Formats: sequence, C-alpha cells, structure tokens
Amino acid sequence: MLNKLTGRKKMSSPEAAEELQHEKIPSHIAIIMDGNGRWAKQRGLPRIAGHREGMNVIRNIVKACNNIGVDTLTLYAFSTENWKRPKQEVDFLMRLPERFLSVELPKLIEENVRVRITGELEKLPDYTKKAVNKAVDSTKHNSGLILNFALNYGSRSELMDAFKDIYEDVDKGLIKKEDITETTVTDYLMTSGLKEPDLLIRTSGEMRLSNFMLWQLAYAEFWFTDVLWPDFTQDNFHEAVKAYQKRQRRYGGV
Ligand code: IPE
Ligand code: IPE
Ligand code: MG
Repeated sequence: MLNKLTGRKKMSSPEAAEELQHEKIPSHIAIIMDGNGRWAKQRGLPRIAGHREGMNVIRNIVKACNNIGVDTLTLYAFSTENWKRPKQEVDFLMRLPERFLSVELPKLIEENVRVRITGELEKLPDYTKKAVNKAVDSTKHNSGLILNFALNYGSRSELMDAFKDIYEDVDKGLIKKEDITETTVTDYLMTSGLKEPDLLIRTSGEMRLSNFMLWQLAYAEFWFTDVLWPDFTQDNFHEAVKAYQKRQRRYGGV
C-alpha cells in the first residue's frame, strides 16, 4: 500500500503521525542517539546490551521517517571521541553495522532507502568498512529516504580537513581565495550534497552537541528528551516533529 502523501510504500500509520501537518515535515532530521549505557546500567546489564537494544530502535525510526516523508535521516552512531571507551565496548560498537545490516539491508533495499556514511571510514576495522560499503553500494540507485550514518564522525576534524583541502586547492590555483563563500565550505564538508538538518533530536537528557555537525546545525531546531535511546519510540519521534512544526524559524529575520 502506498502512502497518499508521499507516494512511498506505507510502513505503518500510527495515529500520532496522522496529526502532523504534512506541508511542514522536516526534510532532514538528525539524531544524537544517546543513553544506551545508562539504559543497560539501570537494568544491571553490561553497556553493550544497551547498544544492542538501541540498534533495534533504528528500524522503527526509519519506518516512521519513511511514513511521514522525511528526505534524510542522519544518525550519530560513533564519534571520533568514542575511541576513548574501553576496548571491549569499542569492539562491540564496530561490529554493530555488520550485525544491523546483515538483517536490515534487504529490508532497506526493499523500502527504497539509500544508505550513506559520513565519517572517517579509513580508520574503521575492515569488517566494519566492508559492511557499510556494501550497504552504500547496493542502495546507491535507490531514490527514497537517505539513511546517513555518522560513523567515526567529528565535526571539528571534518572542518579542519575541509579548511586544509580548500587551502590546497587555492594553492593549486583551482579556486581563488576571494571566491571562497559559505557554499564553498559547505561543499568541502563530508556532508556535501546533503541538505542541512532542520531538526536535531538528542535523547537521554544531555543538552550538548558533542562535536556533531557544528556548521550544518547553525539554523536547525533542537529538541531534547529524557527518554534513553533504547526506549525511544515512534510516538516520541512524532512528538519531536510536532514540536518542530510549532517553531517559528526566522533565520535572523523578523
Ligand atoms: C550512545 O549511548 C551510543 C554511543 C555513543 C555509541 P552511550 O553509550 O553514550 O550511552 P550513555 O550516554 O553512556 O548512557
Ligand atoms: C555522542 O554521545 C556520540 C554519539 C551518540 C554517537 P556521547 O555519549 O559520546 O557524548 P558525551 O560524551 O556525553 O558528550
Ligand atoms: Mg552518551
């Protein structure tokens, strides 16, 4: 069955979604999926149990995005600072893309989702790279939701690399210093080609960016919830979109 509003395959139709104003759906939603460790701790489980549970939530949120016609969903999965965690936890996190995609990739293909990765892939273990490259490659012709995983992503390092690349291209005479604009910087970032996020959601009660998309979020609307990521539901997601729809975006105007 097709969704009347989006023409996409209909995944689910929770009542909350029906209440949304369909002309004001955020085009790009970014989520800092936080609170897996605390979720596990509350249950006396090891932190990795929280990551496993959190992985299952992604499925529901992808469905919800597809259902309401979001263009791009960016999920912050691993930051450049997360390498500081205990080796056992990092190892588990590095295995997650493989685990997730071994089950979900066929469904993502079937749902016309295009997988994209934003982050420094070279530094990831081979099995992680292999899993994500396969997903990117086998969905590259899909035209539906862009599911963008921020994996080994850090905004400062991204900006620094962009500045270096711009400097190099000026040096080579490929661009002129006086021609550098905001669009130039945007185009040199890893997110080049993506729209900037309209709505940023962070779970688990933390109210900080943790080095996430500092440039791209300049005019995004922020929405925070105390709900821990493994407990985050489609209803919570719709609540965030509803709150977004009540915001007045002024971009410095009146
Ligand atoms: C988010 O949950 C997942 C990653 C950062 C990979 P956390 O692991 O940060 O969970 P808390 O914040 O410790 O509860
Ligand atoms: C941000 O969460 C990174 C991801 C969700 C992948 P963290 O849990 O790493 O952030 P801090 O350490 O609380 O700022
Ligand atoms: Mg955290």
